[in-house]
Amino acid sequence: MSEQSSLGFESRAVHAGTHPDPTTGAVITPIYATSTYKQDGVGGLRGGYEYSRSANPTRTALEECIAALEQGAHGFAFASGLAAEDTLLRAVCRPGDHIVVPDDAYGGSFRLFDKVAGRWGLEHSSAHVADTEAMAAAVKPGLTKVVWVETPTNPLLTIGDIATLADVAHDAGALLVVDNTFATPYLQQPIPLGADVVVHSTTKYAGGHSDVIGGALVVNDGDLAEQLRFHQNAIGGIAGPFDAWLVHRGLKTLALRMEKHCDNAEIVVAHLEEHPAVAEVVYPGRPEHRGHDLATRQMKRYGGIVSFRVAAGEQAALDVCAATELWTLGESLGGVESLIEHPGRMTHASVAGTDLEVPADLIRLSVGIETADDLVADLDRALSGA
Ligand SMILES: Cc1ncc(COP(=O)(O)O)c(C=O)c1O
Repeated sequence: MSEQSSLGFESRAVHAGTHPDPTTGAVITPIYATSTYKQDGVGGLRGGYEYSRSANPTRTALEECIAALEQGAHGFAFASGLAAEDTLLRAVCRPGDHIVVPDDAYGGSFRLFDKVAGRWGLEHSSAHVADTEAMAAAVKPGLTKVVWVETPTNPLLTIGDIATLADVAHDAGALLVVDNTFATPYLQQPIPLGADVVVHSTTKYAGGHSDVIGGALVVNDGDLAEQLRFHQNAIGGIAGPFDAWLVHRGLKTLALRMEKHCDNAEIVVAHLEEHPAVAEVVYPGRPEHRGHDLATRQMKRYGGIVSFRVAAGEQAALDVCAATELWTLGESLGGVESLIEHPGRMTHASVAGTDLEVPADLIRLSVGIETADDLVADLDRALSGA
């Protein structure tokens, strides 16, 4: 555990991993744009730095910070969320192994399991993440090495019970991996709940400004950390120093941004609930949501992602996406600006025809930190045609 673990979340976000530069006293860790390091005699490494694929001080700062926020002992930063996921799979699975995945997940993660890892002999079964018995039934004793969970899921915001799923995984001798991209460590910390690995697309809320692609893994176990460190270096899908610096800067304001994302999401939800063009609003903060009580127990608040179904069907949903002005039509999420997208045609197009296919009339919102009234007015205008 980081030496800063006794500090509160906001204090860790600002200070963990940040050590004033020994030469100048610079308060912020510099961008160490270097590939290699001068050695003081053969093998005489300064601070353990040898070559920047293996380690770079700007990346180390980010890795220490994200580990401290997730209450894990070891953090690893990658070039993207999928690079982090790929490195993890290769570190903990072998051909012939099996993983359990949610029946609602980021399409790119499923494509990695199905189309990439599958070709190397890694099998997968999908189950509903809110149905712990179904997840347990999907486990293949002796073969399952990983139970992989998103909670809330992308884009249907299903909630999985992290503590119970940790028991399911551990009873089978498998690891519980939680993709914490949507919740962020500010709203939910899976490791204290029993998860073995936390995955992030730091592209999203961690970076927070839609200006960087990145990924991260956090673990507590030292042996698992050694495996990940070996594979991070051996495969090389690392975060470069410029990208690591941006993500680390983003983490410092994560708590403030998440509070505003949640405030605005609640206002948007309240408005959509009353809108005649909306058939259903999906948000774990709604008491009607199946996972509401569980989310209340394992999350601090309910996050900045809202999905809803348009009563008039797919074409109307596409029209709404095309009609907003303040809400930018685009993939991704978690930045300060509000985004709107049609998962079936955009982020989740790769899962069409699989168990993970999403409803065609579904719209996903990433609620930003703009003035809430402006967001509601723009949505209203776009919905008026639906
Ligand atoms: C929940 C989730 N996990 C993982 C990823 C993959 O991350 P990246 O796009 O940084 O590779 C995404 C991307 O949208 C995501 O939404």
